[in-house]
Amino acid sequence: MSTYTIDTATSRATPTPAPMKRLTAPAILARKGGEPIVALTAYTMRMAQLLDPHCDLLLVGDSLGQVIYGLPSTIPVSLEMMSAHAAAVVRGSWHALVAVDMPFGSYEESPMLAFRNAARLLKETGAAAVKLEGGEAMAETIAFLVARGIPVVGHVGLTPQAVNALGGYRARGRDDAEADKILADARAVAEAGCFALVLEGVMEEIAVEATRAVPCPTIGIGASARCDGQILVTEDMMGLFERTPRFVKKYGDLASEIGAAASAYAEEVRRRAFPTEDQTYRARPDSPAGT
Ligand code: KIV
Repeated sequence: MSTYTIDTATSRATPTPAPMKRLTAPAILARKGGEPIVALTAYTMRMAQLLDPHCDLLLVGDSLGQVIYGLPSTIPVSLEMMSAHAAAVVRGSWHALVAVDMPFGSYEESPMLAFRNAARLLKETGAAAVKLEGGEAMAETIAFLVARGIPVVGHVGLTPQAVNALGGYRARGRDDAEADKILADARAVAEAGCFALVLEGVMEEIAVEATRAVPCPTIGIGASARCDGQILVTEDMMGLFERTPRFVKKYGDLASEIGAAASAYAEEVRRRAFPTEDQTYRARPDSPAGT
């Protein structure tokens, strides 16, 4: 169990501004064909605070498996991990809708299992929606959740939880059969009631056609500028990693900045230039150090 808001007496970060009305699933749905939806991933309270003023949707993606935990894929990610990080992101945000990924194995078995686990995520974190991967095979589950009050974001095309079945992370839809299947998947999950649909790693024509075909907004990642919105993994677009997929544009160079700061710190510690007087406590300000 966790609280949904920051304890302003104990938090290190600036408290979030006075609570305001968050974007809701119906508000995101209403953006179909309108102002593009800005979405990014977030896994921590502080990153959520920094991103929230700029975003409509923050996704606590199971990509945290690789980004935060150094895992080889999203397969080992657990409900407990998703719950802890989603609660932190809710505490650090006040405006964006927070959606949380259902991890591999937590929803595929049956609609009932999916409901139990989705309800747990929403109760424990304060997030307003879940995202789950899969097309036609997941339509019944999505309809089951939506009918019981759980807003769902769909995710078709390149679905990283299926890496073992797909044989890698190549963009999808290069031949007609695969393109038709992705379009059928998009239609099926939209019909089942998703309020938004992530299209990942697909040929541009498929993204454009799917965006035309479904009534909910599409959110592209490696898809097309003509989707109804875009999402990227924040650490990828901030330049924290050297190796990123081709569809990532780097808007920052965090890796270099962190390296430079760590190097400056190490150099000052080694020549005893840090801490200085400014960072040192003394009971008697005029007492010489070491007495
Ligand atoms: O897990 C994730 O971060 C995602 C987005 C990249 C869409 O699913």
